[in-house]
Amino acid sequence: RLQPVILSGGSGTRLWPLSREHFPKQLLPLVGDRTMLQDTVTRLNGSAFDTPLPAPLVVCNEEHRFLVAEQMRQIGVAPRQLILEPFGRNTAPALTLAAFSVLEAEDDCILLVMPADHVIADIGAFQAAVQAGYQLAQSGYVVTFGIVPTRAETGYGYIEMGQPLPQKAAASAFAPHAFILKAFVEKPDQETAQRYLQSANHLWNSGMFMLRASVWTEEISTHAPEIEQACRQAITGGTQDGEFFRIKPAAFEVCPSNSIDYAVMERLTAKNTTHPPAVVSLDAGWSDVGAWPSLLEANPRDQNGNMVRGDVYLEETQDTLILSEHRMVAGIGLKDLMVIETPDAVLVVHKEHAQHVKNVVAKLKEAG
Ligand code: GDD
Ligand code: MG
Repeated sequence: RLQPVILSGGSGTRLWPLSREHFPKQLLPLVGDRTMLQDTVTRLNGSAFDTPLPAPLVVCNEEHRFLVAEQMRQIGVAPRQLILEPFGRNTAPALTLAAFSVLEAEDDCILLVMPADHVIADIGAFQAAVQAGYQLAQSGYVVTFGIVPTRAETGYGYIEMGQPLPQKAAASAFAPHAFILKAFVEKPDQETAQRYLQSANHLWNSGMFMLRASVWTEEISTHAPEIEQACRQAITGGTQDGEFFRIKPAAFEVCPSNSIDYAVMERLTAKNTTHPPAVVSLDAGWSDVGAWPSLLEANPRDQNGNMVRGDVYLEETQDTLILSEHRMVAGIGLKDLMVIETPDAVLVVHKEHAQHVKNVVAKLKEAG
């Protein structure tokens, strides 16, 4: 059985001032009418799966529980479980909570781990990749999904492809390829990223994973036993409260903070594990809406490459993003600028510096 798990605990600081701690980007309709969380759930509906997939398990922050529950209701989905974290400990603990939760129910299913903040344009290709991954995960593989890189991005993980893996013929028009994963490097420096980009045998890690629940708990206990222990206790000591599952805060408090990528993926090699890592190619118009320029790329633009929302006037302007929530914004003679107007804050940033927006949020936090 395939069980979707949605990680929805990030705060999306590079999309400030629209994305806020109280209202992070995955809960906003940044592309199209539905929020990114709603898109993540609805992309699992469809013909490529023989039977409809079970309702997703969502792991999110306590603070966002009503927003998340309401957004699920809006699309007519009752989650299998809504696991609430009192505070974020990054993705490795979040996945470990989900794995222990299904194992508690004696359901050692295949987990399809999905971040809540991605755009995927081609649902058919996505579902074909998931099906290919499912077969591999059933045979014990730790499956990643790889994207052909288009720039030397340092904010992603990189996967070195090894030997091709044989696959049952796909029953669809899409034919994803699968390979042994030779090496995984999370967020390399610029030089290394450049080298990978030119190598032709590296893919970006999409951030989605597929593996059996017990495979994950075994791997996390090998590579980060403190995380395994803390999360096991947090789940067994947790309580159901209506539709919410509250983990035991005291147990989770001592849990180290780490990502799936650093804690486990970088340490898996085909040689040293009983659960070899694999990568399935994903050519589905994937985009991580990490910072403002990728939002511009993911949305339809006018003939000058601009995207505007709200009350905006433009003249002689190109490749510019202007979102106005509150007041009218006029731009003249702009190029490559991102302007985000909200009632209490306005951001103006050049495309080349868009990654630094998180510094503003850090400063604001310091200032209290
Ligand atoms: N529940 C929960 N708790 N979810 C979390 C937490 C947490 O503490 N922290 C992050 N998440 C969620 C985020 O909301 C997001 O949906 C997902 O987990 C991934 O976290 P990010 O913080 O966005 O990771 P990243 O973008 O730096 O890196 C990951 O994604 C890249 C592709 O987008 C890595 O997997 C990279 O290797 C990958 O290339
Ligand atoms: Mg991300």
